Amino acid sequence: MTEADTFVFDRFSASHLDDPYPLYRRARAEAPVHFADAFGVWVVTRHDDVQTVLTDVERFSSAFGIRTPLVAADGVREILATGHPEVPALLNEDPPAHTRTRALVAAAFSPRRTRQLAPRVQQLTDALIDGFADDGRADLVGRFALPLPLQVICELIGIDPADAGQVRAWTEELKTLTSFDVTPERQRAAAHQSVAFEKYLAGLVEARRADPRDDLLTDLLAAEAPEHSGWRFSTTELVSLLLTLIFGGHETTANLIGSALLLLLRDPGLAAAVAADPARADPLIEETLRADPPVQGSFRTVVADTELAGVRIPAGAQVFAVIGAANRDPAATTDPDTFDPGRERPDRHLAFGRGIHFCVGAALARLEARTAITTLVRRLPGIRLADGFHAPYLANLLHRGPIRLDAVWPRP
Ligand code: HEM
Repeated sequence: MTEADTFVFDRFSASHLDDPYPLYRRARAEAPVHFADAFGVWVVTRHDDVQTVLTDVERFSSAFGIRTPLVAADGVREILATGHPEVPALLNEDPPAHTRTRALVAAAFSPRRTRQLAPRVQQLTDALIDGFADDGRADLVGRFALPLPLQVICELIGIDPADAGQVRAWTEELKTLTSFDVTPERQRAAAHQSVAFEKYLAGLVEARRADPRDDLLTDLLAAEAPEHSGWRFSTTELVSLLLTLIFGGHETTANLIGSALLLLLRDPGLAAAVAADPARADPLIEETLRADPPVQGSFRTVVADTELAGVRIPAGAQVFAVIGAANRDPAATTDPDTFDPGRERPDRHLAFGRGIHFCVGAALARLEARTAITTLVRRLPGIRLADGFHAPYLANLLHRGPIRLDAVWPRP
């Protein structure tokens, strides 16, 4: 096995969590498409190849399970069978089912609804900052970057704000359920929590069916696909879709805000410049999405024997398209390892995917990140990283972001 072959596995060692990019660079140069034994997946790292995997839905299928563990401990499947069966929902659907679901979700997730949310995102941002402004210091991930998108996605869907903490705890349990390194006992406990979460969401769906409101869930319930003779979502389908939206809608955006703040607060001059000119937040956010994307890659299954960059990949194989590596491919970006918020066309990255699965929440994520960053630097002048702070990272192959961010500022 060459060094490049082991790079995905290496990623889990603490030394690479801080900075996986040198490994990606080596993989791009030495083995741009290679099989990684440790995970049984084909790893794809060059920009053009990653783009091909994401967009060529004929060759690369998105069908896979999201909330079922790859290796289930004794009793786990029986526990999960007491909840709602996992049905594909958008992210893991292929056409034609994906086309139908996407049309209904896109209609409910309209630019109008995102725009309507802007004042509310601002209010929630200010309320969170009110909670710690007088302290002169805070962990900005736990107090700010994480609760903001969580509260926004709950409100958007129509989940009672009082339940947001429980929803967060459940999403953590779902992550545990599908993690590699958990004991059978812990996996069974997580399976029970997964079922509780599914039942909670099914209850919410039924409540909205009986009593419609002005929220995304009500819109999804009302949405009909005319070209599919009035087809509508079932409760089980909505449970899967809501799980996808809740998952996709908060951890990713929290990681974007955390990573952008880390880059910003490392450079006091940049923080002051964004405070003076909030328009500078947008290129900073795009450059964060390019250089340190919250979603590091996406999985696909090869439909029939195929070839990618001259490498043969058999039917049924799993492919991991590494967005974090593609975004730093020198063939696509000049001087890719330099963080440069002054780049021209900083939005030419794959951080939100490409093609038919392009992120439905991209506009919302950008709105939240912009509001969070501009408000924080305006309200807490002089904010900087705490002395000696070194950011710890999530131990995760797919998601990347600091799990803690200690900042200080002069008290008002
Ligand atoms: C910075 C934040 C975000 C990042 C980096 C991100 C990233 C991505 C990526 C890479 C994909 C494509 C996956 C693929 O092709 O396999 C995707 C799809 C998706 N995202 Fe996001 N996302 C973010 C925020 C959000 C938000 C806020 C929501 C919902 C409120 C959301 C919901 C979704 C959904 C439902 C899909 C599937 C779309 C489809 O398959 O048609 N995401 N996202």
